[in-house]
Amino acid sequence: MRKIGMVAMAAIGLGTAVLAHSGVKNPAVKARMDLMGEIKDATGVLGGMAKGEIAFDPARAAAAREALIEQAGRIPPAFEARETDPKSEARDEIWTDWDGFIARARAMEDAAAALNAGSLDGVRAGMGALGQSCGGCHKPYRIDK
Ligand code: HEC
Repeated sequence: MRKIGMVAMAAIGLGTAVLAHSGVKNPAVKARMDLMGEIKDATGVLGGMAKGEIAFDPARAAAAREALIEQAGRIPPAFEARETDPKSEARDEIWTDWDGFIARARAMEDAAAALNAGSLDGVRAGMGALGQSCGGCHKPYRIDK
C-alpha cells in the first residue's frame, strides 16, 4: 500500500521543490499556475494520507476531494485564452487540441469524484487514478523543463 502512494506521488512530481512560477510576468499565466499549485496542495493532502505521513481524517480527505473536483472544473477557463510567458510550461497543443485538453481536465475531475474519501483504503485505492490524471495531461500538454 505504501508503495502505491509513492508511485502516485512520483507520477505527479510532488517532489519538485521549486515551482516555475517565480518571476512570471503575465498575470493570466500566474493565475493558472496558482490553480495548479492549489491542485498540488489538495493532492498532497490525499497523497500524504495514502503514504501515512498525514493522519487520515475523513473530513479533511473529503474536503481535499471536493476541492480537486472544483479545481478541475476551473482548468478549462484558466487556460482558455492563449496566454504566454517565458516561464510558462504550457505547450501549444493546449490550444491546437483544445478538446483533448478539456477531456484531460474532465478525466481529473472524474478521478477525484471516484475517490472514496470515507476510508484510508479508499484514498489509497483512488490515488493511482488521480495521479495518472495529472500525468495524463502534463505529458502531452506541459513542457518537461
Ligand atoms: C487538463 C490538464 C492538466 C491536468 C489534469 C493537471 N495539470 Fe498540472 N499543469 C498543466 C499545465 C498545462 C501546466 C503548465 C502551466 C504553465 O506553465 O503555463 C501545469 C502545471 C502544474 C504545476 C506547476 C505549477 C507552476 O507553478 O509552475 C503543478 C505543481 C501541477 N501542474 C500539478 C498538477 C497536479 C498535482 C495534477 C493532478 C491532480 C495536475 N497538475 C493536473 C495541466 C494540467
